[in-house]
Amino acid sequence: MPHPSGSAEMKVLAFTLFCLFIAVNEAKVYERCELARKLKNSRLDVSSGYSIADWVCLAYYESRFNSRAVGPPNRNGSRDYGIFQINSRWWCSNGKGTTANGCRSSCSAFTDDDITNDIACAKRIVKDPNGIRAWVAWVKYCQGKNLTRWTQGCRL
Ligand SMILES: *[C@@H]1O[C@H](CO)[C@@H](O)[C@H](O)[C@H]1NC(C)=O
Ligand SMILES: *[C@@H]1O[C@H](CO)[C@@H](O)[C@H](O)[C@H]1NC(C)=O
Repeated sequence: MPHPSGSAEMKVLAFTLFCLFIAVNEAKVYERCELARKLKNSRLDVSSGYSIADWVCLAYYESRFNSRAVGPPNRNGSRDYGIFQINSRWWCSNGKGTTANGCRSSCSAFTDDDITNDIACAKRIVKDPNGIRAWVAWVKYCQGKNLTRWTQGCRL
């Protein structure tokens, strides 16, 4: 029969490991208005020709506002990174497979809490002929929708 205090120690150890696991995996999830303000201050609307609400909607459906999101591998082996789920085939390098690396960046640079470089890359992506339609989630969930709720109550 196991020693009772040993079992208690195991529980404490398990709990400690659990907390460490949570801390390591803790993601920076932006609040809706926090993100809206950051995008507004970066003049993403002016630069892209799309409203802040469009971008907040897009970011929600791409990453649920999680700046550290890494998508599962796409069918062609590329992956999507960060709050805007920027694709490794075209826009950043993850060291695997070929990349056009249009934003001249490592993909991991798009998965930290500072989204300044993600925004800079989004400004570049949206300059292509497809514009914001490069993001399938925007086409599917944001295009032609009433987007007022995405910036409602935010002081922009
Ligand atoms: C690979 O798949 C992703 C997501 O489906 C897409 O954005 C990208 O353009 C694809 N790359 C190629 C070379 O087809
Ligand atoms: C869009 O939704 C808001 C509330 O979220 C509402 O006040 C507004 O009237 C709606 N606009 C249109 C054009 O339906």
